[in-house]
Amino acid sequence: MKLIIAYIQPQKLESVKQALDDAGVAKMSVTNALGCGQQKGYHESYRGVDMEVNLLKKVRMEIAVNDEFAEKTVKAIIDAARTGTIGDGKIFVMPLEECYRIRTGETGQDAIG
Ligand SMILES: Nc1ncnc2c1ncn2[C@@H]1O[C@H](COP(=O)(O)OP(=O)(O)OP(=O)(O)O)[C@@H](O)[C@H]1O
Ligand SMILES: [Mg+2]
Repeated sequence: MKLIIAYIQPQKLESVKQALDDAGVAKMSVTNALGCGQQKGYHESYRGVDMEVNLLKKVRMEIAVNDEFAEKTVKAIIDAARTGTIGDGKIFVMPLEECYRIRTGETGQDAIG
């Protein structure tokens, strides 16, 4: 199992959701996030001191999938979120140790899908 965490532009959420649906991925968690990447938002200088790293609004998606879904999940996000300009987002993929469906007590692949 893998946990996929994606930071995307908020205006791309609907098209990413659609692309995930088309790829057969329906379960996800979505939250608003603040973040910065390699451009560090912008810097402000106050009395000669570099003060602030600006945090920009992003959407964070968390998607837990079985291994065989990981690649198509990542591809769907990239295809739908990419504009080719800075700030398009980033995706992290992590091994996922366990998953429990609270209602039934199912675990692992039975619980995740
Ligand atoms: N190394 C990181 N660790 C944690 N979050 C990150 C990291 N890099 C990016 N993010 C998150 O992803 C969001 C989008 O990042 P962004 O697309 O600007 O990445 P980037 O590396 O600056 O690439 P680009 O040059 O295309 O802008 C950030 O606002 C932040 O929320
Ligand atoms: Mg950036």
